[in-house]
Amino acid sequence: MAKRRKIIVGNWKMNGRLTSGLNLAKEVANRAQSEIPLSFDVVLCPPATLIWSISEALMDTPVLLGAQDCHYANHGAYTGDVSAGMLADIGCRYVILGHSERRAAYGETNQLVAKKVAGAQLAGLTTIVCIGETLEQRAAGATEEAITEQLTGSLPEKFHPSQLVVAYEPVWAIGSGETPSPDEIRHVHQLVRRSLGVMGETVPVIYGGSVVPSNAGSLLVEPDIDGVLVGSASLNSDGFWSIAECAR
Ligand code: PGA
Repeated sequence: MAKRRKIIVGNWKMNGRLTSGLNLAKEVANRAQSEIPLSFDVVLCPPATLIWSISEALMDTPVLLGAQDCHYANHGAYTGDVSAGMLADIGCRYVILGHSERRAAYGETNQLVAKKVAGAQLAGLTTIVCIGETLEQRAAGATEEAITEQLTGSLPEKFHPSQLVVAYEPVWAIGSGETPSPDEIRHVHQLVRRSLGVMGETVPVIYGGSVVPSNAGSLLVEPDIDGVLVGSASLNSDGFWSIAECAR
């Protein structure tokens, strides 16, 4: 099987103001520039307000841009929402969909996530689809069932595997300082690949949840972990870059 290129994604969540966000993006871009040609992909997902100015700052650098969510429709009467086409217009190549924080706080269902995946892929974005078991599901030994159900439910009937990244993010590991062991992660990633059938060979499966510089090496060395989705540790360029460097 061909070696898949690793992907390092920074999910800033609702953090970063105009000046601090731009500075952070420029610092990451400088690190990336100094390592050209990069042997891995780096994607920054700032809050929507910063995408345009960061997009200009990242032009001619190898750092790619993503958003943290989008609507499933291309346009229309959806007060407060942003479409995938609008994000593509301002330089986004990726969008995170179905993050557990959105599922929990806004009641996003698998069905809604699947509609968003279809809409975002139609607009040309690569969709980073998040799935992960809760602590209760893990304690009940229902991780595999939860993952399979969420994965199949969060994908539309037709999708482009070349525009799909699956992010395994156990809900209990996000922001908690706890992570599953690399063995446990490998087990889930292999399950994801099996569920995707032939597409599982090519679709990157990345891990997210309390990834920090001290554990990134043991995760990214695994051939079955195609990258990481980093939350709080992506808010500091030194820390984020030392995680990214483990993908070399
Ligand atoms: P964390 O968040 O790295 O802060 O745990 C990861 C995520 O929610 O994507």
